[in-house]
Amino acid sequence: MTSLALPPLIPAIEPAENLALMTRPDFPLLDQVACLGQPLIYLDYAATSQKPRQVLQALQHYYGHDNANVHRGAHQLSGRATEAFEAARTKTAAFIGAASPHEIVFTRNATEAINLVARSWGDANIRPGDEILLSVMEHHSNLVPWQLLAARTGAVLRHVGLTPTGELDLDDFKAQLGERTRLVSLVQVSNTLGCLNPIAEITRLAHAAGALVLVDACQSLPHLPLNVADLGADFLVGSSHKLCGPTGMGFLWGREALLEAMPPFLGGGEMIEEVQLGSSTWAGLPHKFEAGTPAIGEAIGMGAALDYLQGLGLGRIHAWEQQLTRQLFARLQAIEGVRILGPTPEQQPDRAALAAFTVEGLHANDIAALLDSAGICIRSGHHCTQPLHRHYGLAGSARASLGFTTTPEEIDRFAEELQGTIGFLREHS
Ligand code: ALA
Repeated sequence: MTSLALPPLIPAIEPAENLALMTRPDFPLLDQVACLGQPLIYLDYAATSQKPRQVLQALQHYYGHDNANVHRGAHQLSGRATEAFEAARTKTAAFIGAASPHEIVFTRNATEAINLVARSWGDANIRPGDEILLSVMEHHSNLVPWQLLAARTGAVLRHVGLTPTGELDLDDFKAQLGERTRLVSLVQVSNTLGCLNPIAEITRLAHAAGALVLVDACQSLPHLPLNVADLGADFLVGSSHKLCGPTGMGFLWGREALLEAMPPFLGGGEMIEEVQLGSSTWAGLPHKFEAGTPAIGEAIGMGAALDYLQGLGLGRIHAWEQQLTRQLFARLQAIEGVRILGPTPEQQPDRAALAAFTVEGLHANDIAALLDSAGICIRSGHHCTQPLHRHYGLAGSARASLGFTTTPEEIDRFAEELQGTIGFLREHS
């Protein structure tokens, strides 16, 4: 493969602390050799994060010492499991600045959390002709539940467009927000464009128009300081596996008064106060929304992940990832034929540490497959944002997404291998 002449980097605004150096010993998975003896380089954090040993240890400790069902037994194991499970809820509430742990509903993932709102709040509040305002950059998980709701209720879905730089078009948002808008549901950071949406301003405008706001924070929670009081939103959803925690775990945050007024989503054990053969009454928050045995170990693991992120500091994580982002863009922009989706770090300094890109004349899957053979893991395809790709006339793209464990050397090696891959594919196509 040909080697790449590296251009000088855009000078960093202020050199950030090298968090990769500090954290790599905590991530045993990253310390492995891929095929052909190359060190593995993981650049698929937007799909799922790697897990530090502190999270693995929390899971091991739970299953090895405390495993029991929660809120059910009087015995000591159930007591310890319940305590650890509820401590994870308190940590989640503190992490996002919620007013109370009662506002945190544990779900299987962020997708389930959005479906919960669509089913419970949506079915109770949406009438024919009411409008739900989304955007063209949404993940499928923030499109399909509303399509299903619209089909059930006769609601109208509207979608905010993009600016030429690949950011949310705020003028279009203002134009589409109207007196029929009941809910605005938007991603805070796009998993494909990497742009950071101005949620606080959107919330202010939406509330003035009488609409509620749901924020999909999956791609922002592990990378930026976030506080629901500052955002002013009404619902926020997050996913554990994106923030260094286990899979099968997510959460919904909602304002207590809203959650109180909403009917249950799923029925079964744990969510009831009293069951008769013909009818039942519901438990209080948050248990009203948590039917069945929950993902106990996964919740505890997510709590350990939140501790880990908070220990590092979200401000420090963001500063380090901003520096990595500038390097990633400089390297990619220097490669002929590469087109990156979304705003550059110059256009939006707080944008996310990922780059979805296309290469003229080449298929993203071929690029990802060849990079994989060099030990580099990136994602290719539509990244669960088909309408966004269609908006750009694309079937898919390749995407490199970074985490705080990513090293500058890994970005350089990725760019070199990408350049070589492009040369190889051009020669052989
Ligand atoms: N939403 C995840 C991604 O962006 C799966 O890859």
